[in-house]
Amino acid sequence: MEYNPFSLLGKRILITGASSGIGREVAIVLSKLGATTILFGRDRERLQITKNMLQNATEHLIYSVDLLDSEKVMFVIHDMKERGFNIDGVINCAGISSTIVLRSITEEKLQNHFNINVNSGVLLIKNLLLKKYSLLNEGGSIVFMSSVMGLVGEVGKTTYAMTKGALIAGVKSLAIELALKKIRVNTISPGVVKTPMSSASFYSKNEESLKKIELLHPLGIGNVEDIANACVYLISDASKWVTGSNLIVDGGYSAR
Ligand SMILES: NC(=O)c1ccc[n+]([C@@H]2O[C@H](COP(=O)([O-])OP(=O)(O)OC[C@H]3O[C@@H](n4cnc5c(N)ncnc54)[C@H](OP(=O)(O)O)[C@@H]3O)[C@@H](O)[C@H]2O)c1
Repeated sequence: MEYNPFSLLGKRILITGASSGIGREVAIVLSKLGATTILFGRDRERLQITKNMLQNATEHLIYSVDLLDSEKVMFVIHDMKERGFNIDGVINCAGISSTIVLRSITEEKLQNHFNINVNSGVLLIKNLLLKKYSLLNEGGSIVFMSSVMGLVGEVGKTTYAMTKGALIAGVKSLAIELALKKIRVNTISPGVVKTPMSSASFYSKNEESLKKIELLHPLGIGNVEDIANACVYLISDASKWVTGSNLIVDGGYSAR
């Protein structure tokens, strides 16, 4: 057998936000390296499209679930337990982004961003690890998708940035707590990557602002596979001594 510390053969990985953008590509790349995936997202049709794009498509599973619907999440976790779907890793890609200047920030917008970008992922991990489910295997790896906005500032990014910074901070304590179970926890901080999320952003609306964003990235704007490859590293045994860290994958954005 060829030496490959990045092999994911025999690993079952849960990916949230798998119906679009980064999460979809993560699923594709992981499947090519031998992983079986469990795909979470709200939109069943787009989840099915992701599934059809995977290597050995029939081996992967989809669960259409709104992560803000705690009852549905528990139903899915219960179903996974019943069907014996223990997992070796979770990649939390589900998230929302926005550009909101200070005068437009409301309590509701803040709450909504924290609910999906931070709380839903942390609660998902908590519930997977509840004694009665114990769905996450020893030696497992958890990745939270943060953002370079968790490290540097831009006008209108306060709300989004606070959620992404919270992930970078929280993961450190979670990593220490879960090290007792030999489970690793890390964040990835991407710069701007071409996805439906970034295409919907204000800076994609005209050529001039898109150019400005491009110039902020010395290596140019990223592609989804750049982030998927970083996930491979953190999910594979190649990173078995890495926990509580934040892997910046931003084409040099934050190096300035
Ligand atoms: N694209 C970038 O430039 C960039 C840069 C830095 C960080 N990120 C981060 O990377 C992650 C993925 O971003 P992306 O660009 O791939 O975005 P995207 O294409 O908009 O995908 C977002 C995903 O999140 C899911 N989602 C949103 N709300 C949900 C909810 N309540 N319950 C369950 N799933 C929910 C969506 O599911 P449905 O479509 O099924 O509703 C979708 O699969 C996000 O956390 C984002 O903040 C992205």
